[in-house]
Amino acid sequence: MPIVDDARAETIRYHESYYSRHNLFDQDSWLKAPDQYLLALAERQAPLWRELTGGTEARPLKVVDLGAGVGRNAIPLACFLKENSIPALIDCLDLLPLSIDKLGQYAEKYGVSQYINGIVQDNDEFQPTTQYDLIIAISTLEHCSSKASLQALLQRLEKALAPQGHLIVEITTDRQVRAVEDNSLVETLVETPLEKSEVEALFRATLSPLQLVLEENFPYQEKIDLNGRKVFWSSCQTSKIFRKNA
Ligand SMILES: C[S@@+](CC[C@H](N)C(=O)[O-])C[C@H]1O[C@@H](n2cnc3c(N)ncnc32)[C@H](O)[C@@H]1O
Repeated sequence: MPIVDDARAETIRYHESYYSRHNLFDQDSWLKAPDQYLLALAERQAPLWRELTGGTEARPLKVVDLGAGVGRNAIPLACFLKENSIPALIDCLDLLPLSIDKLGQYAEKYGVSQYINGIVQDNDEFQPTTQYDLIIAISTLEHCSSKASLQALLQRLEKALAPQGHLIVEITTDRQVRAVEDNSLVETLVETPLEKSEVEALFRATLSPLQLVLEENFPYQEKIDLNGRKVFWSSCQTSKIFRKNA
């Protein structure tokens, strides 16, 4: 089996198991809270979004969340928009039918079903048919099937962003996993493992028409159980927000 197929199988196995064991907002999980930069962006944009969606040419705000999972980001965003009387439709894409089923259940539980449009969809094949005011791609781009496929997706996302729209991206780079017992390297599988410099080059090649409005990089380190083995996981998390001019 080609490495990318092994990696895709591992991605599916990991997420299906994780979403079955942890509920949205469980405190001892990475589902405990939404991305901090996303909600801060929503707070800042609320006045403009109210204008876009409340005037005589009123239309719902258009949002897409790629690799949305069970709604760690889309559900709190929908709650915020609802509380602020901003009508919106959030297209939530995920490879896994299980994610989209659970997302629908959480949307109902939190009273935001009318905001959430769950779609089983591989990011590699996403062909936007509308312009979006907000595009969210958090912890999912590294699961594209290749660098070429990721580059093509970024090009489509740049084109699909509406004037004054924002693209928020978080991506893991430079992952390294070492065994706790002897510090030896442990192979982990991700479809498109990337170095930070490669991500920068990809962003330069595809997103240069956009303005960079936020960049945060932080090292991530954790001692975890990986397939029955204690390992040190280390990587770099990069968050960026881009804006299209009016
Ligand atoms: C680490 S989780 C992040 C979920 C969500 N964005 C968040 O921040 O909570 C990665 C998600 O991407 C989804 N995914 C992985 N590969 C994908 C692909 N090729 N197309 C669409 N979704 C994918 C997984 O099923 C999973 O729900």
